[in-house]
Amino acid sequence: MSKRYYITTPIYYVSDPPHIGHAYTTIVADALARYHRMRGETVHYLTGTDEHGQKISRIAEERGKTPKAYADEIAEAYQQAWRRLGISNDDFIRTTDADHEATVQALWRRLEAQGDIYLAEYEGPYCVACEQFYTEKELVESKCPVHKRPVETLKESSYNFRLSKYEKPLLEWYARMNPVQPEVRMNEVRTFVEGGLRDLSVSRTTFSWGVPVPDHPGHVVYVWIDALSNYYSATRRLEKTHGIDFWPPAGEPPRGEPELEIVHVMGKEISRFHAVYWPALLMAAGLRLPDVVFCHGWWTVDGEKMSKTEGNVVDPLKLADDLGADAVRYFVLREVPLGLDGDFSHEALLQRFNSELANDLGNLLNRTLGMVHKYFPDGKVAPRGAAADPLDTAQRVASWQTLLDDMQPSRALEEIFVLVRAANAYIDKAAPWKAESDKPTILGNVLEGCRIVAHLISPIMPEKARALLAQLGPELADEPFRIVGWEGTLGFAPPVGTPLFPRLDEERKTALLEKWRPRPMVAAEKPAAITATSPSTSTSTSTSTSPSASTISFEEFGKIELRVAEIVSAEPVPKAKKLLLLQVDLGPLGRRQVVAGIAEAYAPTALVGKRVILVCNLAPATIRGVRSEGMILAAGDDAILGLSTVDVASIPPGTRVR
Ligand code: ME8
Ligand code: MG
Repeated sequence: MSKRYYITTPIYYVSDPPHIGHAYTTIVADALARYHRMRGETVHYLTGTDEHGQKISRIAEERGKTPKAYADEIAEAYQQAWRRLGISNDDFIRTTDADHEATVQALWRRLEAQGDIYLAEYEGPYCVACEQFYTEKELVESKCPVHKRPVETLKESSYNFRLSKYEKPLLEWYARMNPVQPEVRMNEVRTFVEGGLRDLSVSRTTFSWGVPVPDHPGHVVYVWIDALSNYYSATRRLEKTHGIDFWPPAGEPPRGEPELEIVHVMGKEISRFHAVYWPALLMAAGLRLPDVVFCHGWWTVDGEKMSKTEGNVVDPLKLADDLGADAVRYFVLREVPLGLDGDFSHEALLQRFNSELANDLGNLLNRTLGMVHKYFPDGKVAPRGAAADPLDTAQRVASWQTLLDDMQPSRALEEIFVLVRAANAYIDKAAPWKAESDKPTILGNVLEGCRIVAHLISPIMPEKARALLAQLGPELADEPFRIVGWEGTLGFAPPVGTPLFPRLDEERKTALLEKWRPRPMVAAEKPAAITATSPSTSTSTSTSTSPSASTISFEEFGKIELRVAEIVSAEPVPKAKKLLLLQVDLGPLGRRQVVAGIAEAYAPTALVGKRVILVCNLAPATIRGVRSEGMILAAGDDAILGLSTVDVASIPPGTRVR
């Protein structure tokens, strides 16, 4: 039976613009939403931003903005990003929306009136980044277990939510419905609740950027209560405008409408909020519970935690600019089975782009259309005919559907590529280029296979799916995406199209990696050449040591390995007007590359053949994405700069300087 689906992502903090982690969840939920729409089901897909709390107001203050003005900017950045990535959300909720605030207050009043919220004193370790209290036991080396940063001790007279009362009902719900996925997260949550639930502090008095607690001036609603309520408040809005209730009271029989399924998608780090606190609040409010709480895994980047200080935050929009949004959507869904942790690598993205999207899928279409144009230059391949299904598409569509129902988009995509490869193999075997072959049937079969592929990829690559259909024939351009089956050989005369996924050659791949590669912030800003400033011009205030205190022993000096190096080639570093990339020769010690900040003083051609002094044992650094294996000595700054050298030309490269 057809259902109604309410699909949500977390609402993201406006503390940062969207990165690949936020994009991931939003793409997962989008694919799910599009899949259900394809099945003709009514879908409401919600995402949004979480804008209250101390952390946000502090950031806004640092930037000299009001919290609202700052939140407006980031909320806009999120909405733009989602448009760019083809996200089909039906609504975008912000916790600063007036109707949301009103719903939070109404919920609060109800819970307070029935005694589920009461006033209490509380003191304990508090993490501002998490906006939550921890017990001493939960801290790791006295630091926040999530952010690994110092906690503050907060004492508050605050309102508490009677969470403890819902311990049993929650455990019963888990046993009855198994609502949390994947199973490992269900078990985690169950164990947590079995360990006993303490009441939860749900108001704050130390800051004011939040929803005011009704009738109790000085208190604002705890940001997580405010945030979780978004899922419900967005449905009040919808009820008003469309008269559809996506969040009915508990136990209410369906009002002749299709059955409702509420699916929350999020990262595993906030499973407790969604699988414990939120359902407990809903129970208290007499509202229906979610059906699925899906907690996906965590992305690292090249094996490292993604963070601003590491400088390795992946911007999905940059990738989409170069490869198209659909390639990014494809990659994140294909690369990691939903629910598991994943590691993002730019190389893996390029690899999948070329081998799967360009070679397998793109090439299937290109070669097919190429042959159609060659063999049927005047129009029709053949009328649509009821041939058998030589590509076994029925089987593929069935597994694809089962896998998506089972929240396994990665494997569902794999299934599509089984079909794509089957079509390529079918062409090879049937050899439509041979004189005796039945060209109309062979090519008609492949075209029909491509049509089915277009529908199957549409939840994940909606833009390319549309482009593919358009290339198969004008009659198909507007065909709505749906669950399709084999309808017989396709007989259209396709227009000439541009390749869906043009293959990236080595040069382009290198250029892209260069452009995307995260740059360590510090190394990139470091000058490449030592500019030995003379003592008379150095400002003593800028250094903490006096000249005598800064002397080093001969032994210490000996640790610096200086050698004569001959410059073999020099070239500019793209987008860095001060830098040159040098290849230098160290004689018996071989060659190295060095990035030097001397471009304003020397033309590259003037450098070749010069013998300079190289610090050989300096740790290598990456400067503007280019590896530098040493540093050449120079005096001066910018355009007025001279290279340090030896004044006897016959001293060979590699000679130690002492
Ligand atoms: O937690 N890997 O917002 P948030 C995978 N406002 N997913 C990631 C990720 C990564 N490295 N980084 C972020 C909040 N995400 C609250 C939520 S909901 C009522 C309130 C995704 O901006 C993932 O979905 O910290 C994660 O749960 C979410 O972004 C956290 O976003
Ligand atoms: Mg977070």
